[in-house]
Amino acid sequence: MNRNFQKDIDLGLSATNKTLPSKYFYDEIGDALFVEIMNMPEYYLTNAELEIFKNQTQELINALQLHKTPFFKLVELGAGDGTKTKQLLKALDHQDYNFRYVPIDISENALKHLKVSINQELPTVKINPKQGDYFNVLADLKASEYSIIVLFLGSNIGNLSDEKAKELISKLNDNLKTGDKIVLGVDLIKPKSIVLPAYNDAQGITKRFNLNLLTRINNELEADFETDTFEHKPEYDEEEGIARSFLVSKKDQIITIKSLDKTFRFKKGEKIHMETSRKYNDQILNGILAHSSLKIMDRLTDSQNLFADYILEKC
Ligand code: AVI
Repeated sequence: MNRNFQKDIDLGLSATNKTLPSKYFYDEIGDALFVEIMNMPEYYLTNAELEIFKNQTQELINALQLHKTPFFKLVELGAGDGTKTKQLLKALDHQDYNFRYVPIDISENALKHLKVSINQELPTVKINPKQGDYFNVLADLKASEYSIIVLFLGSNIGNLSDEKAKELISKLNDNLKTGDKIVLGVDLIKPKSIVLPAYNDAQGITKRFNLNLLTRINNELEADFETDTFEHKPEYDEEEGIARSFLVSKKDQIITIKSLDKTFRFKKGEKIHMETSRKYNDQILNGILAHSSLKIMDRLTDSQNLFADYILEKC
């Protein structure tokens, strides 16, 4: 059993305002549900960023001020299936850029699949997957003479609190050399009528995605959550630009987690904060970058202005 998982769940459910870390959504079932989410009509983020990578590939290459030589490394944090990145890889490869693609992921399995598909679809692209912690891998790469372009796409930074996002930026900043760049994909602040349905889809996939963490706790920590006694309730504050997902207890109840030898009391209407999905604009991003040497150099947006890929440079 994963001790960190156990500790984090205990901490979150013991807090006055109960919370569970969304990073634990992604077990095998959670991964599959997230793929379904990305294909839902309401979840505009994936298609908007794919449109940028598909339709503005050359603009992206220009914004990154890439040259065919010298050699550089294109490092992707949390690569997933690489659909968007393949658009960029294809263009760089066709134009004979001298580079290597280094996807980093915690999941050995995800990297294995990505390598096979890149080898099949883009056989001349050099790929060197690295399994492990983003920052350990980046620290190793910093020691080399080559410049680095980091891809951190999909608004993954949005799932961090502003404090944690600053910590991530600070670590990225420490592990890059002057002139290295980052492509940071973020969802933009927009009206509630667009954001809320993306986290509250008609088919109930996002609800299952959230409830799956309770099932995971049942399975891995011997708990007795009855998932149908919780309601999925996302909220979006347009002023603040933050979507938050909650599970709300439909009744007074006591949950036992055997592996912790503990019980947790829920009142009817009590919420568990499951996930934060921050939306960005230039001002918010500049606030996150404030104490780093990373500066916004450019940004590309999709045709509907839903999503942005920011180009940051370490100065
Ligand atoms: C991975 N991440 C950027 C997604 C998001 O939009 O916050 C996760 C997600 N949660 C519910 N739907 C999608």
